[in-house]
Amino acid sequence: MKSLKLEIPLTSYATEAELPLDEQTLVEQARQATYKSYAPYSNFHVGAALLLEDGTVFTASNQENAAFPSGSCAERSAVFYVGANYPEKKIKAIAVLARPGTGDVFQAVSPCGNCRQSLLEYEHRQKQPIRLLMLQPKGGIIAMDSIADLLPVKFDADDLFGK
Ligand code: THU
Repeated sequence: MKSLKLEIPLTSYATEAELPLDEQTLVEQARQATYKSYAPYSNFHVGAALLLEDGTVFTASNQENAAFPSGSCAERSAVFYVGANYPEKKIKAIAVLARPGTGDVFQAVSPCGNCRQSLLEYEHRQKQPIRLLMLQPKGGIIAMDSIADLLPVKFDADDLFGK
């Protein structure tokens, strides 16, 4: 028997101003996307912004449903939109954050398990990692260079079909 510990690489930015300009804009676009969220049941408005390799940005937000599981998270709405409409384009980064309540106060949120798995599929599909930007609970940004880092003991097509 052997106990092991996994280390997960991430970068912490004390302020958003430390990010490259395109990523600062991406975080701001995720913020704006929260205002398009439909979250009458949770009142938790999530915004996601996706940066494609060619510089295009797409945003999305969570869209809830009275039948709760029928709703969709912001991240999955964003990534499925890009996959469905621009299947040949590669996703470079995704920013995600939340705005609980009705005010203008923003909060950290990290992708839920379903979104992690869906984003991981896109990394596999495009054979390129996707950088993830999240707010830090006490200000600043946490960045991870790959979704796979969020799911260190992951299941993807390599497990299903072999490499
Ligand atoms: N939500 C997201 O949009 N993304 C996440 O990663 C976490 C959860 C949404 C789903 C639901 O509409 C609300 O936040 C509360 O769970």
